[in-house]
Amino acid sequence: MAEKKKFQAIKGTRDLLPPETELWNRVEQTAREVFATFGFGEIRPPIFEPTELFARAVGGETDIVSKEMYTFEDRPGELPDFKRESYNFVQAVADVTRLFETEQIPRSGLNEVLIKLLEAKLKKYQDLNQRLLTDQLSADSRHEIFEDFRKTVADIVSDLNKLELGPRTSLRPEATASVCRAYIEHGMHALPQPVKLYYTGPMFRRERPQKGRYRQFYQIGAEVLEMVPPNQDPAKNIGKDAAVDAEVIEMVMTFFARLGLEGVKLEINSIGDRECRPKYVELLRAELMKVKDKLGPDSQRRIETNPLRVLDSKLESEQGIIAGLPKIADHLCANCAGQYAEVKRQLGMRGVVFEENWRLVRGLDYYMRTTFEITARGLGSQNAVCGGGRYDGLVELLGGPPTKGIGFAIGEDRLILSLQEAGKGGVAQGRDVFVAWMGEKAQATAIAAAQKLRAAGFRVELPPVEQKFGKALGQADKLGARYALILGDDEIATGQWTVKTLASGEQRKMAAQDMVKFLKGEIKE
Ligand code: HAM
Repeated sequence: MAEKKKFQAIKGTRDLLPPETELWNRVEQTAREVFATFGFGEIRPPIFEPTELFARAVGGETDIVSKEMYTFEDRPGELPDFKRESYNFVQAVADVTRLFETEQIPRSGLNEVLIKLLEAKLKKYQDLNQRLLTDQLSADSRHEIFEDFRKTVADIVSDLNKLELGPRTSLRPEATASVCRAYIEHGMHALPQPVKLYYTGPMFRRERPQKGRYRQFYQIGAEVLEMVPPNQDPAKNIGKDAAVDAEVIEMVMTFFARLGLEGVKLEINSIGDRECRPKYVELLRAELMKVKDKLGPDSQRRIETNPLRVLDSKLESEQGIIAGLPKIADHLCANCAGQYAEVKRQLGMRGVVFEENWRLVRGLDYYMRTTFEITARGLGSQNAVCGGGRYDGLVELLGGPPTKGIGFAIGEDRLILSLQEAGKGGVAQGRDVFVAWMGEKAQATAIAAAQKLRAAGFRVELPPVEQKFGKALGQADKLGARYALILGDDEIATGQWTVKTLASGEQRKMAAQDMVKFLKGEIKE
């Protein structure tokens, strides 16, 4: 008998269950409504994309790409999983050879070498097999050949596992790269600009799970993309870009306000552009070198790899040192400084309250100029509920036309947590009407009544078998029903139905056709 296995959701993933999912739906519905008022339409990109897309967009050296992506080779469907034990490797070698020749698995140098080796080893395996079956062998030489035979099989299995069976593919760790890919793929630069898109859905990062941090988590994000017409003077558009940035931020703040999110704090920064940032990074690196010995190992390493990330450090002992480092605001080029000032003015005009945080550098490589993060109450150390910024040039980096971009992503799990912690997670639970019925004739009437009530939008529970009324009303209470429709012989005979208000116990009789009207008057929300 197969061993009984206890299956559990994989570490860092979880089931979202009712009634909590009602809150998730309400949050997503509110996002749809608010974003629509700002002219955004929904995009639903796929959940997996070429690994290279994320590596190029988010950055190969970032934590997300270098450590956290769920990546696999998308092998042709007809190939067996070589990691499984019960497959026929003779057949597998024949299959991969054929698929290699027809270019259905990559014709890479590594694959070419491996296929040659596999063919040779398979031949050896067949020879040895033949000898073991047919030759008259002494015990010693049989043992020797058998060892060789076993090693050859192990070699074949190992070589099969080394083959590159298909393009490297990753579960999306974020969706900005996908939206840019889609913008290019569908020629969206030909649409009226800017193109405003939002998305909701799961993202995947192999992070250490804790409160507010999961390996499968959900984002609600939005992006604004606008192709830059040829010969446009970038300096001329500073005001326009700033207004777009401010409106995107205003939109997310409006959404949070609509949900009643508490303790919302918006922090903004400018991290410069291709012209001024490299100079600042060099200056920062030089300053960090002077204090290298006083820094922890992570920051020491980052002096080389990405000095900006040192500013992100939460290490207590480094805070004093970081406070004395040069600030990017003092080293922005004229265009970046002008744009940053204008973003702040535009936010002011929109009544959006913000704080400046010169240490706000984001963990993704595509940003330039405006960056922002929003924190909310009740989240502990993982308190960033939204992050975003401008990413002009990303579409071009991915092979599209010169394009500007700005967007954000909200961590929906954290947003929900914060709402719950503030007691804003309440959702309408239970049922509106429990249909309590007894008797065969009553069942037909109960079914018809449930159909009519559901069509009118009420949440109805209809027991599949008859129940004594006492038991039925007990169950109605447990389900949090507000009304019970009681249908027994009496009601069927007279056509006068009994409706009971469960909270007060009040009971009234009414004609069948008046029921929906009565309940509509009673249940207003
Ligand atoms: P991000 O800062 O990597 O930005 O993620 C945005 C938000 O997703 C975070 O502020 C956080 O609330 C949530 N989040 C990230 N990782 C996790 C996790 N492991 N568990 C739970 N929540 C998490 C981006 O993803 C960019 N694509 C945002 C953007 C859009 N920038 C421009 N456009």
